[in-house]
Amino acid sequence: MTAKRHTITAALPYANGPVHIGHLAGCYLPADIYTRYLKAKREEVLFICGSDEHGVPITIRAKKEGITYQAAVDKYHHLMQQAFADFGIEFSCYGRTSSPTHHQLSSDFFRKLYDNNGFTEETTEQYYDPEAKHFLADRYITGTCPRCSNQGAYGDQCEKCGSTLNATDLINPKSALSGAVPELKATKNWFLPLDKLQMEFIDGYIAEKKGKWKQHVLGQCQSWLTEGLRPRAMTRDLDWGVKVPIEGADGKVLYVWFDAPLGYFSATKEYFDSRFSSTFNGVESVQSEGELGQIEVGKIQLDDWKKWWVKEEGTEQHVVHFIGKDNIVFHCIIFPAMLHAYNQLGMEQYLIADQVPANEFLNLEGQKISTSRNHAVWLHEYLQDFTRKTDELRYYLTAIMPENADSDFTWKGFQLAVNSELVAIIGNFINRVAVLLHKFYDGKIPSETGMGDREKNLFDNLKQTADTIDSHLQQFRFRDAQSALVDLFRSGNKYFAETEPWHLIKTDPEQTKGVLAAAANYCVSLGILCKPFLPQAAERIKDLFKVANDKYDLTSLGVTNILVIGHAISPAEHLYKNIEDAEIAKQVDKLKTSPVTLFKGEGENNGVELSQSISGLSKSEIVFEDFSKLDIRIGTIKEVVKVPKADKLLQLTVDVGIDTRTIVSGIAQHFTPEELVGKQVMVLVNLAPRKMKGIESQGMILLAEDENGKLVFVTPENQVNNGAGVS
Ligand code: MF3
Ligand code: ZN
Repeated sequence: MTAKRHTITAALPYANGPVHIGHLAGCYLPADIYTRYLKAKREEVLFICGSDEHGVPITIRAKKEGITYQAAVDKYHHLMQQAFADFGIEFSCYGRTSSPTHHQLSSDFFRKLYDNNGFTEETTEQYYDPEAKHFLADRYITGTCPRCSNQGAYGDQCEKCGSTLNATDLINPKSALSGAVPELKATKNWFLPLDKLQMEFIDGYIAEKKGKWKQHVLGQCQSWLTEGLRPRAMTRDLDWGVKVPIEGADGKVLYVWFDAPLGYFSATKEYFDSRFSSTFNGVESVQSEGELGQIEVGKIQLDDWKKWWVKEEGTEQHVVHFIGKDNIVFHCIIFPAMLHAYNQLGMEQYLIADQVPANEFLNLEGQKISTSRNHAVWLHEYLQDFTRKTDELRYYLTAIMPENADSDFTWKGFQLAVNSELVAIIGNFINRVAVLLHKFYDGKIPSETGMGDREKNLFDNLKQTADTIDSHLQQFRFRDAQSALVDLFRSGNKYFAETEPWHLIKTDPEQTKGVLAAAANYCVSLGILCKPFLPQAAERIKDLFKVANDKYDLTSLGVTNILVIGHAISPAEHLYKNIEDAEIAKQVDKLKTSPVTLFKGEGENNGVELSQSISGLSKSEIVFEDFSKLDIRIGTIKEVVKVPKADKLLQLTVDVGIDTRTIVSGIAQHFTPEELVGKQVMVLVNLAPRKMKGIESQGMILLAEDENGKLVFVTPENQVNNGAGVS
């Protein structure tokens, strides 16, 4: 059998601010769950991350705070590292791109490509600030977006309509440094020929991922490729970053998206370098359980970092990048193109990602998370109010993880998840088992596990569900995986409801012993399965049942005698506590006091009417009279325009037979106006009108959402007259 080696990365966060729940749900949490799971399976895995310390946003932040660039990144590097550690995000290595190792590695990488004609040299006109005497990075220029007329667009991107821009596309450009009108000035930079690399490699690489990658990831890649890649500058005129290692390139640094992904390599290298020197000196550094799978301590070689990044004959290697959707083009197109270009040189053959399970965005109470408006839940602030309650947040964020569509964090939802699932299902079951063992048997396992039909079912179901969890996780379905885990606790509660050991003890004391032994051993398996999702629960269950470390992994799953007769457990305790209304009210208030403009419709469940995918709750029963109140009719879409300053909304003119009306719908990210005109759709016409972005919407169009978050219209099978009633 060939060995399997997993190289897992999570996007290097910019060291320009603290970490919030959106970051956690977007990539660090899924990456951590995935890694912990592989560790529990005893597979070889390395989990790599670090701080992204270059780039323009960092220089802006430092200027704002009036400190040096290095001081700014130092501050946030440590803050972020602490927040991750607090939430149990267990990186194997956490590097930083301002380190000498990183500068050396990325500079060498650039130089090798350069020496082999990997770049084209182009002199272009770039904006220059005549007052600050400085070339201006695209981010430093603001102006009016040529596509949607947003006046606050940045030179690289319009955050309103999401278009990628060149600074020269902006109307009325201004320097963000001085407010001056920037001038165009010639400058030379080095470009990666992405057009050529697209034909040579990227087209085929992406085509081969069909059916393997998430639909929304492929969709984004496809739209870049259809538009056609253009050469992109890999060097920039900026005074912060990795110096361009070419003569005559003073005042230029590597493009942050060139050096940052190489940070995955340098973080790995730095880690092995330090382990090498520590084993070399005869002192082994501390390492968490199972981290390196099969690698034996004491045999670290200086070049071992390459095992994780360079192809090795006879080893099945997997590189998985966990990222948010705004990083897709960089991880699925540009970084692979860089690596392919390098591999063509015939030296090391670097591994190129085989999975990029990007998540979409997490909203907060119906609105986009916004750092500038302080509409966010910061991890360090959460911990001040909810001391040590990290499983609680991990649990809820996993339950609503934006895997295939944006999703919404609400404090009420958080409270509900904790109280009705963590406390009432998970904690309750574990607690009852421990309490009864103490009450009846002095806290000791009283016998062997009884093996009647009920017990057989209980353990059979456990093994089947564990397989289900395995397959969910292999396909990056974290929500489903966690919910299968909760079902196993439900089954435990059900087992108790059926066997009623508290009554049984009076009629059949022998059988009661078997029941509690079964329940206790079952708890151990559940604790093992908690490890990836709920590390605190996993630890507490291990301590409560006093399970030996070396028995606490997936090889013990479903084993009915991990706890043998006479084994003593610890005093019973509650794994989790209820969250009180007052605690939630406080958080909601806190958000309200930050200056946020409320806009209903945008951001809520992706702005999509009838979407069920987020809450997963079914609706309560209605009678026919309720249904007959709905006036649903067939209509034809006549005209479609984008709603200014709302990236999710389209304004539709729909002929519904009885009249022609305006309907605003949150589907702009799913359809282009062109593809909608002429479509027959179902319209709820007697919905009370409501205003969105100043436009009165008179009705609602019915849509369904598939499992990938893709929207489809509910249309009549054959063309019918507009105004035809639906009943
Ligand atoms: N710093 C980037 C962000 O936060 C992510 C960089 S990922 C890397 O969006 F691959 F470039 F490192
Ligand atoms: Zn725009």
